[in-house]
Amino acid sequence: MRTLVCGGAGYIGSHMARLLAAHGHEVVVLDDLSTGHAQAVQWGRLIQADVLHPPSLEAAFAGQRFDAVFHFCARSLVAESMVRPYDYYASNVVGTLNLLETMRRHGVRRLVFSSSASVFGQPVSDMVDEDHPAQPINPYGASKLMVERILADAATAYGLDSVALRYFNAAGATADACIGESHACETHLIPNVLRSVLGSGPALKIFGGDYPTPDGTCIRDYVHVEDLAQAHLLALDYLDAHPGAHAFNLGNGRGFSVREVIAAASAVTGRAAPWEMAPRRAGDPAVLVASSRRAKAELGWSPAWTGLEAIIESAWRWHRAQPW
Ligand code: UFG
Repeated sequence: MRTLVCGGAGYIGSHMARLLAAHGHEVVVLDDLSTGHAQAVQWGRLIQADVLHPPSLEAAFAGQRFDAVFHFCARSLVAESMVRPYDYYASNVVGTLNLLETMRRHGVRRLVFSSSASVFGQPVSDMVDEDHPAQPINPYGASKLMVERILADAATAYGLDSVALRYFNAAGATADACIGESHACETHLIPNVLRSVLGSGPALKIFGGDYPTPDGTCIRDYVHVEDLAQAHLLALDYLDAHPGAHAFNLGNGRGFSVREVIAAASAVTGRAAPWEMAPRRAGDPAVLVASSRRAKAELGWSPAWTGLEAIIESAWRWHRAQPW
């Protein structure tokens, strides 16, 4: 199969490209390299194109037929989305519309879309399943939910078959540390803890110690990036027998607090992780844990990385190998 991985120079997209190639699929990566890295494109040809520039998309699709598209291009920082909402709606909604319209014109009818747990907003139950109300509390989550709605309409109007996968907290790196998480401006917990351990970043700031959780810090569900990639592959297979627009939640179903993540990182690295308490970060729910029962039952997804320490260890191998 010839696949197009939009955002394939980024963190999750590059793991997807690697998995597709390992399964014998031809991979073409489309990326504007604004946040991704050319050196992460190791399993397919790179086409430098921008979803906000339709002629560049047209050029990417011209002369070759893709059997399916995996779409990871997005701006994805919750806090940034609060202060630059236009950028988020432009990149994530208008950019996706441009991609969908290009796909439609070229007869590409299958898409796996990178959605997010942030579509749910403030959870009203401990385990968030697909029936949980979707009421995003920031422009990032709202932009992802808008695309999910567009995909439902596209199924009806144009026969586009799609699966939206709502990741909880993506983490980790390939076991051989050849690709991993690398953002110019790092905001995520596990990379920041590891950078503080390495001394390549400041002491970790814990954003809030007064949440209604057992140790006062936020609880999240960390899911390995390779397990996320695997779910995309299963999602594509799922479309063979299930036309239409679908959405699944992806997490391990177990939450860990910020303090537990710091303790696990210290255990993995054998070093203390320097930290200091800081005020809450705007837009953070106290607890966010997935029920992935539906993905397991319908996609046959079964995460291989279920332990927090193993996930952090894979991230640690990657971080230690970087020049920062
Ligand atoms: N945190 C800190 N210090 C840091 C970084 C994070 O205390 O330096 C805390 C956050 O406040 C939060 C937890 O660690 O409580 C996890 O934060 P991340 O930034 O790692 O991840 P988020 O849960 O904020 O966001 C992630 C993705 C989003 C997605 C969201 C869905 O990055 O794209 O999960 O739940 F929308």
